[in-house]
Amino acid sequence: MFKNKKGLWGVLFLLLLIVLDFFWAFLPFPGTYGPIKDPIPIMGHRGAGELAPENTNPAIDSALAYDVQLIEIDVQRTIDNVIILMHDETVDRTTNGKGKVKELTWDYIKDLEAGTDFVPKPSGVRVPTLKSALLNLKQKSTTARLVIEVKDPDEFPGIGKEIIALIDTLDMKNQAMVISFDIDFIKQLHVVDKDLQLGCLYTIPPKSTAEELAFAKVVSVLWVGGSVFFGRVKKIQKRGVEVWAWTVNPLRRMKRLHKRGFDGIVTDYPNRPYMGK
Ligand code: G3P
Ligand code: CA
Repeated sequence: MFKNKKGLWGVLFLLLLIVLDFFWAFLPFPGTYGPIKDPIPIMGHRGAGELAPENTNPAIDSALAYDVQLIEIDVQRTIDNVIILMHDETVDRTTNGKGKVKELTWDYIKDLEAGTDFVPKPSGVRVPTLKSALLNLKQKSTTARLVIEVKDPDEFPGIGKEIIALIDTLDMKNQAMVISFDIDFIKQLHVVDKDLQLGCLYTIPPKSTAEELAFAKVVSVLWVGGSVFFGRVKKIQKRGVEVWAWTVNPLRRMKRLHKRGFDGIVTDYPNRPYMGK
């Protein structure tokens, strides 16, 4: 597997860094907690997926309660072309229903209990449509932005144009951004609409020569990938693109990544910087 000993030592060194980081993030060293002095820019993950059932309007409300200005959610599309908030391909994990979203009707999904995986188990929470999530946001904030992650766009032909049309109909271009791991999809959206804010997701930051950096507003990287390839993070930022780290839940890790130079932190716990723990 390793061509030489250097490669092996390199991998072992990285593993050691990750283990040390884990302990640094979780062990209660005295005196290291406390409310932050400089606010850390926060993007709520799946709304605020540990404060309320993920990808629901209550999760968006929880992020707004902490004045979060970027609120990430995931979307899929039903068989009858309704775009809904759902992370997984199926409704199985987060609702009391069963089946693949793309094979289910909205009529079936709209009556499901959402948040069945959340503790404490909520009652009466429903799976929102993207439209209802956008309207909910618009009603409660004039500045916060819904960051719409499109999962597997190849599975949903035309979904990009449908999202753009919805944003335009609701007159919410200044309160929306579309992101995806599928960089070709993001490039296509840019061709369709040059004014829509777009973001690209990666596990490891791309080279600073990547074409999409010419128009992406945000690059969001897995925090480990971004930490190891931090040189790339700096180069991307030099091109004027913000680099955010996902998904970071321990406060100490949020603080460290922010201090190191990430523009913002994607987290399930937007409350932690406020509470200081
Ligand atoms: O913001 C990036 C992050 O949401 C990607 O991971 O699986 O939670 O969608 P996932
Ligand atoms: Ca996501």
